Amino acid sequence: MVCLVTGSSRGLGKAIALAMGSRGHQIVVHYKNSRKEAEDVSSMIPGSIVMKADVTSATDVKSLVDEVVSRWKRIDVLINNAGITKESLLIRTSESDFDEMINTNLSGPFFFTRAAGRYMMKQKSGHIINISSYAGVKGKEGLSSYSASKAGLIGLTKTAARELGRYNIMVNAVLPGYMLTDMGVEAGDKAKVFAVQESIVKKYSNPDSVAEFICYLAGTSGISGQVFNLDGRVL
Ligand SMILES: NC(=O)c1ccc[n+]([C@@H]2O[C@H](COP(=O)([O-])OP(=O)(O)OC[C@H]3O[C@@H](n4cnc5c(N)ncnc54)[C@H](OP(=O)(O)O)[C@@H]3O)[C@@H](O)[C@H]2O)c1
Repeated sequence: MVCLVTGSSRGLGKAIALAMGSRGHQIVVHYKNSRKEAEDVSSMIPGSIVMKADVTSATDVKSLVDEVVSRWKRIDVLINNAGITKESLLIRTSESDFDEMINTNLSGPFFFTRAAGRYMMKQKSGHIINISSYAGVKGKEGLSSYSASKAGLIGLTKTAARELGRYNIMVNAVLPGYMLTDMGVEAGDKAKVFAVQESIVKKYSNPDSVAEFICYLAGTSGISGQVFNLDGRVL
């Protein structure tokens, strides 16, 4: 299978790319700024390629997807993983911070789904997995823009699943728990302590376990429009 994992230079995306790659799939390791890290990930996956795109640019995204299909003639799995977060109380959140969050976490997956979906419709198969968050379902103090972007991604998932199901394209969302990736570490001690306190298993989420689940899901057929909560916090 040809698999494109957005934001696979680091963190969860890296774990997904490595897990999919270890199953012999053809992997696109995608990055924006972390070129060296992306090349390191690719060096661990035989036959993989490294591609750069800013997910907030519809033009960049379309060119990347077109290039993948021109090289490998198909695209089977799209994992919309690239994302950002920034903490601030709603009344102190600037328009530019809000826009950046929505552009990255919601417009990015929309651009990728539109670009890859066209090819998947022609080949009459495909699986799109969107990485959303517990915050997108429950909301979280200090994360209004992040929560809004991740809630929007769930709406995008369900609607894309409805529109693309007749073409044998599955679209699902996954909610990982709190992971100690760069994003999780940079959120600060208070958020880290709180995440474990809230977890019913009193643990952080492990990116490798989340990646294993995503590999399994990507190989299924007939499961679509669903939101899978892998978070130790009960929804
Ligand atoms: N960490 C958590 O606790 C947690 C919990 C729930 C959900 N999530 C979600 O899981 C996903 C992965 O998070 P993570 O923790 O692995 O984050 P991370 O370690 O900060 O990595 C973020 C990745 O996204 C890429 N990225 C960011 N902005 C981009 C842009 N404009 N264009 C292209 N790529 C961009 C980065 O690429 P470069 O470095 O190359 O720029 C990087 O590869 C995100 O969607 C996040 O919201 C995370």
